[in-house]
Amino acid sequence: MATALGFDVYGTLIDTHGVTSLLETLIGPDEAPRFSATWREKQLEYTFRRGLMRQYCKFGTCTRHALEFTALSLGHKLTTDQMESLIDQYARLPVFPDAIAGLETLQEYGYPLYAFSNGQTQAVDMVLKHASIRHYFKGIVSVDEVGTFKPDPAVYEHFCTVTESRAENAWLVSSNGFDVIGAIATGMKAAWIRRSSTQVLDPWEFPPTAILDSIATLSDVLGP
Ligand code: LAC
Repeated sequence: MATALGFDVYGTLIDTHGVTSLLETLIGPDEAPRFSATWREKQLEYTFRRGLMRQYCKFGTCTRHALEFTALSLGHKLTTDQMESLIDQYARLPVFPDAIAGLETLQEYGYPLYAFSNGQTQAVDMVLKHASIRHYFKGIVSVDEVGTFKPDPAVYEHFCTVTESRAENAWLVSSNGFDVIGAIATGMKAAWIRRSSTQVLDPWEFPPTAILDSIATLSDVLGP
């Protein structure tokens, strides 16, 4: 059975801080990085809370609510058009350059590659196409099919079901520590992509199978 590789999308293949340059034009270069960081943190917090409350909504709604919260809490009055342009930007976020080299080699090696995301299939399809990396993937597995978010064990089990994999034969590739821990806890393998040495993994009892500073080196770990 071929080893299925599930790539987290936002934060792993695609850089969510790609909104920063638009933010710079809207609120200035000093405020933009904090706005971007708060938006992303809040977006993820909303997925965790909705998962716990069993009040699922689409990921795009979490993104929109987090944007509204961030603007209010940091005291920025954004117009409806400015809000919409930031939301539109989410479909046009840039790819991390190391992802392309990594995907290219892994595809050559014959691994079945999947995008595996909190995002809805259509949104993920759009962002991957815009970043010109959609063709590397055999499919998109979205948590939307389960109605909850990462790191609910149900979504990792769903990934294995869809890809017809046993957990021990399936890999998650993610920069998001909570995602890596979620996958390991269900018995999957997981590579934590740590692009910056300042990134810290939660000191829990679920160590990643591999820790890499870029997706480009994943093929060295997995081999042909
Ligand atoms: C995703 C998240 C974790 O793409 O942002 O699933």
